[in-house]
Amino acid sequence: MKRNFIASALLAAAFSAGAAGISSPSGNLVLNVSVNDSGTPTYSLSYKGKTLVADSRLGLVADEMGFADNFTISATDTMTVDRSWEPVWGEYSTVRDHFRELAVTFTGGEPSREMTVRFRVFDDGLGFRYELPRQDNANYLTLRDEATEFNFTADHKLFCIPGDYDTDEYLWSETSFSGLPGALASYTGHTESQRSGGNTIQTPLLLKTDGPVYVNLHEAALDGYPAMLIDVDSDTYSMRTNLVPDRLGVRAYLQLPFNTPWRTLIVSDDARDILASQLVLNLNEPCKIEDTSWIKPMKFVGVWWEMFTGRVKSWAYSDDYRAKPGVTDYTKIEPNGHHPANTENVKRYIDFAAAHGIDGVLVEGWNEGWEDWCSYKKNRQFLFDKPYPDFDLPLLRDYAASKGVKLVMHHETAANAVDYERQLERAFQFMKDNNYDAVKTGYVGAIIPRSEHHTSQWMVEHVRHVIERAAAYGIMVDSHEAPRPTGLCRTYPNWLAQESARGGEFESMGGNPPSHTCILPFTRLKGGPMDYTPGLFETRLSHYGEGKDSQAGTTLARQLALYLTMPSPMQMACDLPENYERFPDAFKFIEDVPVDWADSRYLEAEPNQYITVARRDKNSDDWYVGAITDHNARKATIDFSFLPEGVKYLATIYEDAPDADWKENPQAYRIRTVTVDSRTRLKQPLAPGGGTAMRITKK
Ligand code: NOJ
Ligand code: CA
Repeated sequence: MKRNFIASALLAAAFSAGAAGISSPSGNLVLNVSVNDSGTPTYSLSYKGKTLVADSRLGLVADEMGFADNFTISATDTMTVDRSWEPVWGEYSTVRDHFRELAVTFTGGEPSREMTVRFRVFDDGLGFRYELPRQDNANYLTLRDEATEFNFTADHKLFCIPGDYDTDEYLWSETSFSGLPGALASYTGHTESQRSGGNTIQTPLLLKTDGPVYVNLHEAALDGYPAMLIDVDSDTYSMRTNLVPDRLGVRAYLQLPFNTPWRTLIVSDDARDILASQLVLNLNEPCKIEDTSWIKPMKFVGVWWEMFTGRVKSWAYSDDYRAKPGVTDYTKIEPNGHHPANTENVKRYIDFAAAHGIDGVLVEGWNEGWEDWCSYKKNRQFLFDKPYPDFDLPLLRDYAASKGVKLVMHHETAANAVDYERQLERAFQFMKDNNYDAVKTGYVGAIIPRSEHHTSQWMVEHVRHVIERAAAYGIMVDSHEAPRPTGLCRTYPNWLAQESARGGEFESMGGNPPSHTCILPFTRLKGGPMDYTPGLFETRLSHYGEGKDSQAGTTLARQLALYLTMPSPMQMACDLPENYERFPDAFKFIEDVPVDWADSRYLEAEPNQYITVARRDKNSDDWYVGAITDHNARKATIDFSFLPEGVKYLATIYEDAPDADWKENPQAYRIRTVTVDSRTRLKQPLAPGGGTAMRITKK
């Protein structure tokens, strides 16, 4: 790792008793910090000479002590850092971490208190966090509020989802500060847990000014603290933090010294820079796992989609909802006969994975506990070491090993996180004993028995604990229904992926419009990779003939492009083997596409409309391109100047056929090859809701 620290007290910044300031390395972003008349710390941020965030308050409020007023600036400290680091996996093999830092210490009040706010100004944005050292008077805080504001200056565009303490599985609204109350009113799902009312939204969110300047607002390194939601004032264009509370209304219980997560603003007048930014990862701690050789990015298939087609309606072995895990002798109760986690079916998936070079097979419904999990009344307990009688684990373990395929474990907890913690060590040991290296976890439903919210401090700590214990066993994790990622995958790279947004499963429940995957990379993905589950080839659920009429908002070719535009080191090929066998030439792309990258170049991007990206494989000289559009047909411009000069490549292009259309003709695709070099510019047509994927190999 290359490190180069340059400490400097003489930055292009002005300091006086009540104010301090600093600019980003290029000077584009300028941060100013001061205290107002009541001694409340404030900051402002300008971009290219224009105010982006006007004077905005900073502070924390605890029962024992307030950290929001009666302060003066007692010290400032600055430094410039320019270093780089190598992620275990990701979009780039090397990440540059280049910023100017200003740490402002505020003291004062009676009894006296001290708080440092550490600001890091990068060329692509700002991060800041509160640091509370041990105090003379109180070191255990019952945090009631974080008073951080982001005061914007005009009625900017907003891309957001409703503020909900428990779920983020929503479609995105493209609205504005003034349009927000109406825009959110149309949401109907999950309203019982949307406790913070109409004008609260979640992060990561995206803003676009008239400029345009694009701003992604989120947080980094969320640990030991609740997730941040944002209260929006539609009249003043002000945003304010709203931390997820526990059932008693307490935001967090803190033991000092304590550093909060970073509040992050990724800023650029070029939308592509928002996608390329590594700011959130840069603000996380370096990798804590010493030997990472066992962390292996992977592709996997699974019985998963069978549940969603309507053909198989249950994860459970039996329809007898009275069956109790660990009590019922499952060999003595009637199997329902439509539960796909059975030995024969799983062998079929293993055979398919082996034949196509897919690393893993995920099996939902393999263990005791699914009979009554959805009623959430009696049996919200699963056993993580008790296979159902029709899942011959030793046989499948050995069969998978003989074929060079890994079984991927599934731990649905039905949100009984306390019980999961009790079983955790046994569950992970069971995995290792049976040759499993990766687990998909799940927290469907309201958290019991504590009545916590999914993104409260307690759950944030629970999930981090699971990741740490998994690392101790050499286990990789893909978590569903967990708090939205904030770049902790840098510190714990065994945390390969998360769901934490509306994923591909909704294609069977009303569908995701094509624009959905044109916004996720600007928002949710800035925290970390998503287990979106691309690879859907049969997009009409009516195909299965059992009453489902949902249709996915995509063409077949676009599903291939998602492997590039939704990068993840744990990538599913979600469809049924029989559907892949109908389109073997298209499936070849899924076989070939890597899940770990040496370099990435965003070629074109506009939130909610289109994304074109080129990526270089980490393990070869091959390049790949993915381009997607919303419901409008589009011509992507692909500029191949990312290729080395003077070298000829063969591009295999998987594209929408001329008459393709996500609604009317989703499976119309073509495959062609063209010779390209660094001077090639291709105008590539994309169908409505369509996309293109390319594999580019040296000739
Ligand atoms: C919801 C998850 O998102 C899905 O992927 C999983 O299969 C089910 N819960 C069951 O655990
Ligand atoms: Ca989910």
